[in-house]
Amino acid sequence: MVTNTHCFGNHLPQPYFHFQRENDILLIDIVPFHFHTLSLQTSSFYFSRANKQILKHAMKSIFQRKPPILSPRHEFHSQCSSINPQVVCNSSSTREEFMIKILDRRWTLTNPDTKVHQIKVSTLQTQPTSGLLGNVTFSNNSNPSLGENLMEWNNDQSSFYIVRDDLLHPLVNGNKARKLDALLPLVEDHLGTDVVTCGGCQSAHAAAVAVSCAERGINAHLLLRGEQPQILTGYNLISMLYGNVTYVPRSLYANRQKMLTSHAHSISTTVVCLDDLLEASFTNHKSTKSNSQPLNSKKMVIINEGAGDAIALPGVIRLVEYLSRDYVFGKNQRMKIVVDAGTGTTAVGLGIGALCLGLPWEVTAVMLADTIEGYKKKEEHLISELCRCFGLPIMHKGLVHWVQRQHPRKFGNVLKGEIEACQKMAKETGVLVDPIYTLAAWELASQLSQQEKKGGAKVVMLHTGGTLGMFGLAQRYKSYF
Ligand SMILES: Cc1ncc(COP(=O)(O)O)c(C=O)c1O
Repeated sequence: MVTNTHCFGNHLPQPYFHFQRENDILLIDIVPFHFHTLSLQTSSFYFSRANKQILKHAMKSIFQRKPPILSPRHEFHSQCSSINPQVVCNSSSTREEFMIKILDRRWTLTNPDTKVHQIKVSTLQTQPTSGLLGNVTFSNNSNPSLGENLMEWNNDQSSFYIVRDDLLHPLVNGNKARKLDALLPLVEDHLGTDVVTCGGCQSAHAAAVAVSCAERGINAHLLLRGEQPQILTGYNLISMLYGNVTYVPRSLYANRQKMLTSHAHSISTTVVCLDDLLEASFTNHKSTKSNSQPLNSKKMVIINEGAGDAIALPGVIRLVEYLSRDYVFGKNQRMKIVVDAGTGTTAVGLGIGALCLGLPWEVTAVMLADTIEGYKKKEEHLISELCRCFGLPIMHKGLVHWVQRQHPRKFGNVLKGEIEACQKMAKETGVLVDPIYTLAAWELASQLSQQEKKGGAKVVMLHTGGTLGMFGLAQRYKSYF
């Protein structure tokens, strides 16, 4: 029954034992003493030696389990208590049910795996600061110790982990791949023949939709803001090669919803939005593979700008589940997850994932395209849409720390020195970041890694991809290159 016992040593507040049993994790918090189980295809669970009574009861329940054990409080409590103490879920739902509902689906990516690298950060004392991150050097360990060994490593040198989602696909990578992970199978399941979405000329999202749809035989219609450039490059070129591009004057683009809807209706008489498909997949599963849809007719699905829809969240939550596995970061390590925010959807997905899995992870998002009020509204909207579609009763008061960038700027602009900063990181580590999005997350991760040195939280940056954006910037900001 109990197949393995192992003491993790001094770096945990009390000795923990490690037992194995298929598909179960038992987590017992030290204060307050409570436990819960999850069934997430993992084979380990932990308990505190100090609480033999609770443990005895928990073990008994686990091995005789049916129905599943719930936390005695039957509540969702994110362990990021400093930022979201009011997050609760009512008693009818459990984390386990929630995760099954979210993760038990067809996916685009065959598995959620991703590479994790470790960036060491060294401050040069002798050299005067020159430019962005000028007095800091970086080096990359592309094969860091993870799992149990990660717990033993105690930050005596500043470093942060980087989740290399930019390596997922040559053209559909980073958060685009995560957002489309659950989204495209939903379109397929509901016999969508066409999709329409929008973005700027260099939209990584529009290009990712075009490529992924082409891979599945779905027609992608892309409404790109502004005029067609003289020479196409970067994501703009990819969008043109894989999708049906229409350039839309900025005045019309300003009302995105109207623009998307009227374009959709100009192509098909059957137009649906993703949230409706998601909701229908629970209330009317598979029957929306509608018999009423005439053969060879088009069914158009509207995808919002940046895939800022609730169905973009499960793919990000799936990533969090992967990262929390025992052989990656585990579930007990304090983590600060850093991400750059456009619509804010990726950050919210990370926050929900951490909450649902009860992880002591804090999500910090650098605001790049909106105000804090805008991001909070977006967070509230996404959570309520997810809950509405999945029938989940979560109330919330902020899952994400929304922070200003150190050097704020108008969205899409590039400041002097930013290209050089990206160049420096590329040369020193082999990791390419772009000045619009991922540079901001890198800066914050680097800063936090210095603050969290020696016993603090582990810092993890999610690389959200977008590297082809550099081509568009080279065209637009010639003098910087
Ligand atoms: C490379 C990159 N990083 C980050 C983002 C922002 O992601 P989100 O809209 O989920 O905040 C985007 C997208 O729009 C992007 O292209």
